[in-house]
Amino acid sequence: MGELNPHTLDRLTGALLAWGESRLRDLPWRRTRDPWPIFVSEVMLQQTSVARVLPKFDAFIARFPQPSDLASAPLGEALVLWEGLGYPRRCRNLRDAASVIHRHHGGRVPDNLDDLLALPGVGPYTARAILAFAFAQDVAVVDTNVARVLSRVAGEPMKLASTQNLADDLVPRGRAWEWNQIMMDFGATVCTARHPKCDQCALVDKCAWAGDITQADPATTTQGTSRPQAKFEGSDRQARGRALRAVTLQPLKDIEVFAAMELSNDVMRARQLLDQLLAEGLVVQIEGKISLPR
Ligand code: ADE
Ligand code: SF4
Repeated sequence: MGELNPHTLDRLTGALLAWGESRLRDLPWRRTRDPWPIFVSEVMLQQTSVARVLPKFDAFIARFPQPSDLASAPLGEALVLWEGLGYPRRCRNLRDAASVIHRHHGGRVPDNLDDLLALPGVGPYTARAILAFAFAQDVAVVDTNVARVLSRVAGEPMKLASTQNLADDLVPRGRAWEWNQIMMDFGATVCTARHPKCDQCALVDKCAWAGDITQADPATTTQGTSRPQAKFEGSDRQARGRALRAVTLQPLKDIEVFAAMELSNDVMRARQLLDQLLAEGLVVQIEGKISLPR
């Protein structure tokens, strides 16, 4: 990373801010500085694309405008609004986090790293995103997009700690909100995983890799960049989603859930998956039937 002296860093920041000024996507969670909807959006965006979060976000916030609204609602009701986002454990964690916020933080999302990290489902990425986007603190948000961009610019694979350090050095003081949103959009639209648009890139003359096909992409071996998602078709995740959707409509007997999972011919696996859902509290069994938690 010898190339990235403070002067280079400044030029990099300037070029990216200039790029982002007119291009920041207008997204509902960018129109607010209310920490709660920002918290909710960041949890939704952890494993779900912007395009799939957009149709779900407003309805969720309309129903649960404050942490206490989610904390006091049945988990089943939250899960119905979560449908389509996948990874429903996040919804359960979010509701548990809302309870902690309600009981221990006076109903306000905490504004410091330690209290945020102590909330269920909140890791270093989400905690920093909340600090930058809701509280305008000068911290760097490092998600898979940001890690990819930085390793390419540096021209070498990076470890998590050095990515976070480099990212922290780059944040222009007082502009963390804008800066981190720009980094995300830049990674999502220009410096993409598979087809980076180096020929239209504002950083091309400052980027060590610059899409050089004779050099391996440094991002592929950088920590914290995502591997291609496991196949959905035939996955446990798909079967669990089918089970949850089916019991959203009405309580069902076990074997009816197995059928909804399309696993009637593999009852062992179906039983296992249903037992997991029960153990995680994402479904309950009442009078012999499976339903969403009340
Ligand atoms: N992914 C995670 N956080 C995001 C945000 N604030 N805007 C767009 N995509 C995101
Ligand atoms: Fe990414 Fe290419 Fe721009 Fe480098 S030049 S930052 S690899 S898009």
